[in-house]
Amino acid sequence: MKKIAVLTSGGDAPGMNAAIRAVTRKGIENGLEVFGVLGGYRGLVDGEFRHLQRRDVGGIIQAGGTFLSSARCEEFRTEAGQRKALRNLNQHGIEGLVVIGGNGSQTGANALHKLGFPVVGAASTIDNDLYGSDITIGVDTALNIALEAIDRLKITATSHERAFLIEVMGRDSGYLAMMAGMAGGAEAICVPEIETTPEQVEQTLLGAYQRGKTHAIVVVAEGAKYDADALSNYFREHTKHVGFDLRTTRLGHVQRGGLPLISDRILGTRLGAAAVDELHAGNHGVLVGVRGGFGGEIITTPLADIAGKNRPLDPAMMELAEALAK
Ligand code: F6P
Repeated sequence: MKKIAVLTSGGDAPGMNAAIRAVTRKGIENGLEVFGVLGGYRGLVDGEFRHLQRRDVGGIIQAGGTFLSSARCEEFRTEAGQRKALRNLNQHGIEGLVVIGGNGSQTGANALHKLGFPVVGAASTIDNDLYGSDITIGVDTALNIALEAIDRLKITATSHERAFLIEVMGRDSGYLAMMAGMAGGAEAICVPEIETTPEQVEQTLLGAYQRGKTHAIVVVAEGAKYDADALSNYFREHTKHVGFDLRTTRLGHVQRGGLPLISDRILGTRLGAAAVDELHAGNHGVLVGVRGGFGGEIITTPLADIAGKNRPLDPAMMELAEALAK
C-alpha cells in the first residue's frame, strides 16, 4: 500500500482535526502518501482530493470542526454513487481509506468495503451512539458545552424562580441528555429510550416547586417522543399547575462548534493513528474505537457488525440521575 486517503463525514465533531492530523502524519511516518478528501463522501463522488503533507495539518489540532469539511451525501447512498467514488479512488491510485464519522458514515464505509475497497473507520460523533466504541470523538466537548449552558440557565432560572426545558442533540440517542442532565443536576431528563409523558414532567416540576426549589431544569433529548416543542406546547396550557414560570432553550448546533477538549484531541489522535495502523496491517473493513475512556484500550469491530445497531443507554445511570434530582 502506497497511497491512502482520509475523509470526515456526517455531523462535524470537535476532535476530527486531531484525527485528520494523526492519519496524515502517521501515514507519512509509515512511508505512505496521504490525500484528504474534501467534503466527505460528496468529495469522493466528485473526485475532490488534496495531497496532504505534514505541514498542511499543522495548527489544526486545537481547532473545532473539520479542516477537510463534511457533508451528508445522498448520491453516495446509492450503488451508482459508491461505484463513482470507487472509480475516483482508483484513478488517483489510492489503495486505502480512513473514514472519520458516526453511524451513517460507517455504513458508507462498509458499502465501500463490500465493493472490495480497503477501508477503516474511526469512531466520531457527538451522539455517542456508535456500537463498537465506548466513547466517540467529539462527545466530551459537546457534553461540556451543553453542561455550561445548563449551568448558566440554572443561574437565571434561580433568579426568576423559573423552570427551563433545555433541548440537547443526540438524534435517536439519549446519551447527551442523560450525561448532561446528570452532571447539571437536572430535575428531569427525557430520552428517546424511555418514554416520559408531559404529565410525568408536570408532576416532577410541581414536586420540585412544592419542595421549595427555586428553579427546575428539564433536559430533553431532541429524539425524545415528547421533545421540547411537544412539552412546551403542553405547558403553554398547564403552567399554572407546576408553580414555575417556564422557558425553553434549544441548544442545537452550538454543541458541535466547540474547541476540542484534551479528551477529544487525544481520542482523535489515537483513533486516527490506529486507523492507519489497521490499514497498513491489512485489517480492513473495521471500525477503530476505544474501550473505557479516551485513554482506554483501542479495539476494532467489523463494520458489518455495526450497521443497524446503536449503543444502548445504561438504565442504572438514568435511575441514579432521577433519584438524586429529588
Ligand atoms: O449526528 C450528530 C448530530 O449533531 C445529531 O445530534 C443531530 O440530530 C444531527 O447531527 C443534526 O444534523 P445536521 O447538522 O445535518 O442538521
